[in-house]
Amino acid sequence: MKNINGFKKLKSEGKNISMVTCYDYWSARIIDESDIDAILVGDSAAMVMHGFDTTINATIEMMAAHTSAVRRGLNNKFLISDLPFLAHKKGRNKLVDSVDTIFKAGAEAVKIEGANCVLDDIKYLVSSGIPVMGHLGLTPQSVHKFGGFTVQGRSQSEAELIIDDAKRLEDSGIFALVLEMLPSEISKTITESLSIPTIGIGAGKYTSGQILVFQDMLGLNKNFNPKFLKKYFNGYDGIKSALNDYNEEVKQNIFPSKNESY
Ligand code: KIV
Repeated sequence: MKNINGFKKLKSEGKNISMVTCYDYWSARIIDESDIDAILVGDSAAMVMHGFDTTINATIEMMAAHTSAVRRGLNNKFLISDLPFLAHKKGRNKLVDSVDTIFKAGAEAVKIEGANCVLDDIKYLVSSGIPVMGHLGLTPQSVHKFGGFTVQGRSQSEAELIIDDAKRLEDSGIFALVLEMLPSEISKTITESLSIPTIGIGAGKYTSGQILVFQDMLGLNKNFNPKFLKKYFNGYDGIKSALNDYNEEVKQNIFPSKNESY
């Protein structure tokens, strides 16, 4: 999809929305030519691209650098970028500066985690012409509040809170809502109670779409095997074996051959 209207259109046609994360130019070029619907420059960049343990280390500068690299690789896809940890909790002016930076880097929408204290800011941004995507369930920026990357909404009271938050976010004007690590039945209830699309990760099959981290679905992290993840490619073994083949040919003086020589 080329713009935000694609979210509404796909939902109204009953078609599931596919999304992946992306952090760099060359991956963006491949995704741009694929059938994937939309792209998120997630703050998971802090973990996937920079090796931090959580997303808390993502900064506006980091998000802007990844967003502009991805932007340069895109012609055909709608691009959403995450607002990093606390960027929306330092006052309105700082929030607007952060969104300004991310938009000037090439984002067409921002994703903001949580509800409660951000509802007014979301309303303000939406009324200022900034499309906002919400994110509930396991909101990784609050990992220390949850005590780990664990499934949320397991108790009735927790589930009710998340369902209420989803409605409040919709009322604040978000155009879509990410649901992360929730029991399928809870995401089903939320999806059925909202008119905007929901995008799930570890939230079962009843959401309006799915998102996976690009490197995870390509199997690049051999040691990351959560229940919700399906690997569509054995990237780790494929890349390692290509590197070893290259090494072997260099050692054996096979590469470069005549073909690769001037
Ligand atoms: O940062 C991220 O990659 C995300 C998605 C997993 C939804 O928020």
